[in-house]
Amino acid sequence: MADVKSSGLLPGSSPPRSRFRWRVPLTLIALCALFNLHPLQIEFLDDTSSSLCPQPSTLVPEKNGALWANLTALHGTDAFLHRAVDQLSAAVQIPTETYDGMGPVGEDPRWASRDPFVDHLVTAFPRVHASLDLQKVNTYGLVYTWQGSDDSLKPILLMGHYDVVPVAPLSADQWTHPAYSGYFDGEYIWGRGSTDDKSGVIGILMAIEGLLEKDFAPTRTVVLSFGFDEEASGYHGAASLAPALLERFGRNAFAMIIDEGGGYNEQYGAIFAAPGIAEKGYIDVSIEVQTPGGHSSIPPDHTSIGILAALIVHLENNAPPPVLELDTPPFEMAQCLGTHGPDAPRKLKRAVRRARKSKRALKEAERILFEDRKFRSLVRTTQPVDLVNGGVKSNALPEQAVAVVNHRITTQSSINATLTRDRDILLDLAAHFNLSVTAYGQLLTPPAESDSYAGTLTLSAPRGLEPAPIASSSAPPFRLLSGTILASLDATYGADVNKKQVFVTPGMETFNTDTRYFWDLSDHILRYAHWNGGIGKSHTVDESIRADSFVGIITFITTLILNADEATSL
Ligand SMILES: *[C@@H]1O[C@H](CO)[C@@H](O)[C@H](O)[C@H]1NC(C)=O
Ligand SMILES: *[C@@H]1O[C@H](CO)[C@@H](O)[C@H](O)[C@H]1NC(C)=O
Ligand SMILES: *[C@@H]1O[C@H](CO)[C@@H](O)[C@H](O)[C@H]1NC(C)=O
Repeated sequence: MADVKSSGLLPGSSPPRSRFRWRVPLTLIALCALFNLHPLQIEFLDDTSSSLCPQPSTLVPEKNGALWANLTALHGTDAFLHRAVDQLSAAVQIPTETYDGMGPVGEDPRWASRDPFVDHLVTAFPRVHASLDLQKVNTYGLVYTWQGSDDSLKPILLMGHYDVVPVAPLSADQWTHPAYSGYFDGEYIWGRGSTDDKSGVIGILMAIEGLLEKDFAPTRTVVLSFGFDEEASGYHGAASLAPALLERFGRNAFAMIIDEGGGYNEQYGAIFAAPGIAEKGYIDVSIEVQTPGGHSSIPPDHTSIGILAALIVHLENNAPPPVLELDTPPFEMAQCLGTHGPDAPRKLKRAVRRARKSKRALKEAERILFEDRKFRSLVRTTQPVDLVNGGVKSNALPEQAVAVVNHRITTQSSINATLTRDRDILLDLAAHFNLSVTAYGQLLTPPAESDSYAGTLTLSAPRGLEPAPIASSSAPPFRLLSGTILASLDATYGADVNKKQVFVTPGMETFNTDTRYFWDLSDHILRYAHWNGGIGKSHTVDESIRADSFVGIITFITTLILNADEATSL
């Protein structure tokens, strides 16, 4: 049975694994009898710490239990592993690089690298192409629809992207195996895209091809949406796919959307799978200082470059502080890490238990968690200065100096608040340097009338993305996904991964995915890639994936499709 009720523990689902030490004390059963409650509908009442981060039981298909068992057994064979290796390797060998600022499809010739990849899919996945409807959006965006028999069930949407970041020419010879070799060394498949995200796209297609080989016909419609320029913000791919899906399926049409995102990682002595329920916002702010030029032999006290440097230092010294706020996704994550991580510091365990009631405990949790830069980045708007430019000649005063600040906006903030903050922080210093200030198109400080013209400060912010709406971690889609992750890891590795217990925690992405365009299509957008080790090795030399982890992805997608197919409460 693949249904997920909000109680989490389901009569009829596979028994909760012993590692949750879930026991129903007799007194509780007696109490329940007294109040006419089924004990299984009371979640973890026996264990207060688990209620901070309740874990679902493993969720395996019931109606299609035999089929699932067949397929997972097949996935455990050497023959299947080699089939999976061949499929991913072939996909990696077709470079589909995305560059910043590519022109429209049909104009920029570089998109043509997608043609052989799309053609390859047709021959590599014959059953998928015979049974699913394929709609091409903006030429290279791929929407596959696997029609279910019951139209009253909301479809699920599985996303991925088949473009890759370019291999930097200077780093090409640093690869252990050439970047587009798809080389298999008996353990790892090597190459650009082997994780990000051809493992996702090929994993989904292999799972469906496998289900079709067993004559599975879905009850619930499954839709696939594959972008082709995610690595450059999806301006041509996801940005056209989302409206096409909206037109065809309507607002909020999907029971859940799964796209790449957090994987499963070891932390505090356990394995935590972390589907992202949130995604940070994004805005680039450009800070431009203009001052009168002139001969370098009679300079003013501060050139535009010197002033810009002072502004940057001032901004860095006044960074938004990291704050762990109650009931935010990072707080939920902290609760899970503290509750279930066997090696989590005792002080953290205590702090997360008390954080809701005690400010001091919350501060203590912050102190411990904020030692980790990754965690700090989750709970603040970040602001690295990533670009700087100024001056043209060593003996000429620079008339112009520009820096670009790249903000990733926390879920508790907004584009507006971020822009306002930058402006307010820089205003004081601009006054000190007698600069006239224009912020985001608005003249705030007009130039002084005296002849002491010092220059101008211009803030601008062309394009931004608000933090994504937060998906619920207690709603059926998250619970279905969580139970599916546990069942899939069980099937791939046995009960534990590397002898570590597995837990699911709500996660949050600090980067952006193609789902940025998909907010109107579902309230339940979950970012999870079933990658072992998360995104660690993508975007750099020696991108690679363990063959058994890749097979695990196929098992995960297979289980997800079957579980969603049986769920009645999605
Ligand atoms: C599963 O495999 C067994 C034998 O390998 C076969 O008898 C059975 O029909 C299969 N079931 C499904 C649902 O494919
Ligand atoms: C922020 O929002 C307020 C209210 O809508 C608006 O007046 C202001 O101009 C915005 N500020 C920025 C920097 O966009
Ligand atoms: C700003 O202008 C005032 C008045 O003209 C002057 O006294 C001061 O030195 C100027 N500040 C800087 C940093 O140039």
